[in-house]
Amino acid sequence: MMKLLDIVKEAVKRGFTAAGYDEKYAMAGVSNRPDLCQYQSNGAMAAVKEYHKAPLVIAEEVAAKIAEDPGSTKIFGKVEAVKPGFLNFTLKDEYLAEYADEMAMKPDLGFEKSTNPRNIVLDYGGPNVAKPLHIGHLRSAIIGESIKRIERFAGHKVTGDVHLGDWGLQMGLIITEIRHRHPELPYFDESFTGEFPKEAPFTISELEEIYPCASGKSKEDPEYKAEALKATHDLQAGNRGYMALWNHIMNVSVTDLKRNYDNLNVFFDLWKKESDAQPYIPDMVEKMKKDGHAYLSEGALVVDIAEPNDKKEYPPCIILKSDGSSLYETTDLATIVERMKLFNPTDIIYVVDKRQELHFIQLFRTARKTGIVNEDTNLVFLGFGTMNGKDGKPFKTREGGVMRLETLIKDITEEVSKKMSDRDISEEQKKEIAKQVGLAALKYGDLSNQAAKDYVFDLDRFSSFEGNTGPYIQYTVVRIRSILDKYSAELGVNRAEAVKNLESASMLAPANDSERTLLLTVARFGDMLANAAAEYAPHKICAYIYELANNFSSFYHDNHILTESDENRKKSWLKLSALTEKVLVTCLDLLGIEAPERM
Ligand code: ARG
Repeated sequence: MMKLLDIVKEAVKRGFTAAGYDEKYAMAGVSNRPDLCQYQSNGAMAAVKEYHKAPLVIAEEVAAKIAEDPGSTKIFGKVEAVKPGFLNFTLKDEYLAEYADEMAMKPDLGFEKSTNPRNIVLDYGGPNVAKPLHIGHLRSAIIGESIKRIERFAGHKVTGDVHLGDWGLQMGLIITEIRHRHPELPYFDESFTGEFPKEAPFTISELEEIYPCASGKSKEDPEYKAEALKATHDLQAGNRGYMALWNHIMNVSVTDLKRNYDNLNVFFDLWKKESDAQPYIPDMVEKMKKDGHAYLSEGALVVDIAEPNDKKEYPPCIILKSDGSSLYETTDLATIVERMKLFNPTDIIYVVDKRQELHFIQLFRTARKTGIVNEDTNLVFLGFGTMNGKDGKPFKTREGGVMRLETLIKDITEEVSKKMSDRDISEEQKKEIAKQVGLAALKYGDLSNQAAKDYVFDLDRFSSFEGNTGPYIQYTVVRIRSILDKYSAELGVNRAEAVKNLESASMLAPANDSERTLLLTVARFGDMLANAAAEYAPHKICAYIYELANNFSSFYHDNHILTESDENRKKSWLKLSALTEKVLVTCLDLLGIEAPERM
């Protein structure tokens, strides 16, 4: 189906050209005065300069041409030229109903997939092995998962890669701490040539305790730190015992990470890691040197990235440290080399904390300058803001520690359960629902903000069943389903069959304002989605479904659907309700949120 705004734009364009004006003036958009009209165009004002006519005259001429155009009269009920030269449009009620009806019948709500599908590698999640998942990684997972789903719905190919942090100093720290605790283990015996044990010498909880302990010690004790640096270096150089230990750390940690992400309904296509890029480093570095891009500066190998028009100073990108070991930049550069080779993507998108912006500027500039990325491959940094506590500082536990993701999910699920305590639902079911609603509270609370902005985590507000929250949207879905269930009961069939039966009914022109508003909002789904996909903007979906849920609420309040005596009207309303439910559920899914049957 053609998107509604495109249909309007086409009609406006025909009007401008028929009246003898260049089509570049035929702009049109959603009205910012919904009390006056649904769409508007300021094109006549823009054309004044070129045509030396009063804007109102131009607008009137265009309006007259639109009124003569059969394609346009089918769409518009009202076209007006108003002072000082605006064009106001209102769609025909019958047309709106017809459009929505078509959406109800088509797969994907009539949304047409992109005719120019992109091949996107989406780098999100980015947890670090052996460190517990915390809030910082939560945003990346939630936003990235939603962007993945949105871009796929829009017709693009998306390969989501978790890009595990498994290669930095944290590994050297863990190895060092294990060595201090268990020097007798064969991993530390240089002369050991046998097979290393299959079982890891630690559990996940031990591992999680080891890292902060080692990290703390290294900050106080320079000798310990030096040891950890050396262990990192030796690991990167392929020390056999360390590699075996690293394998154990990976296995234990990845199993735990997968369980956590499954719990969040976040799924990656690839579980690649920083270390996978290591084999690409030597050739990449060689080429950078050969091409004259990389040079030695104070022992380190660097690439200059400053550009003539820079407003601030950008330090060179360090490719290798003076001891030859690689850094975060090195790994990310080599990962680009790997991704180009394996996927030849049109876009690589990074969903990472915006405080890492400088790193990505350095990365992208170096990649462009040294030619490791195709010229027509887009490198996109989607930096997100910090989740703060009510005190405006990064969110912490009550004790001031780093909040673990699992604890956060537990807290929010408990909060939601309290609200459902009076429901007569089995404990088992209630638990399941509380989890779905709790995750909705968490994800929607995050996604409804523009990603780049910081936001305040507010448990009370996020978990409320009213207002701009995930639970409110879910609750609207549950309400619509219960209306449909009552109707199904009248027919003596199940809900799916009842909805199927409605297919033979036609949607009628709206009977009142709230119905018209609901129809129009439903019909805008395609416009909204195209926009959210183009801008990687889940918050636009949130804003849309909040409006849609409110519109449904007014519609439901104004129209007594189930007691309506006119059978055709009743079926039309039910069909519109079922369509609204479908749009809401589709949008929730694009946000990574499930819709429960009851709550
Ligand atoms: N592991 C990193 C961190 O915790 C995030 C990785 C983001 N992705 C990347 N390609 N650099 O900060």
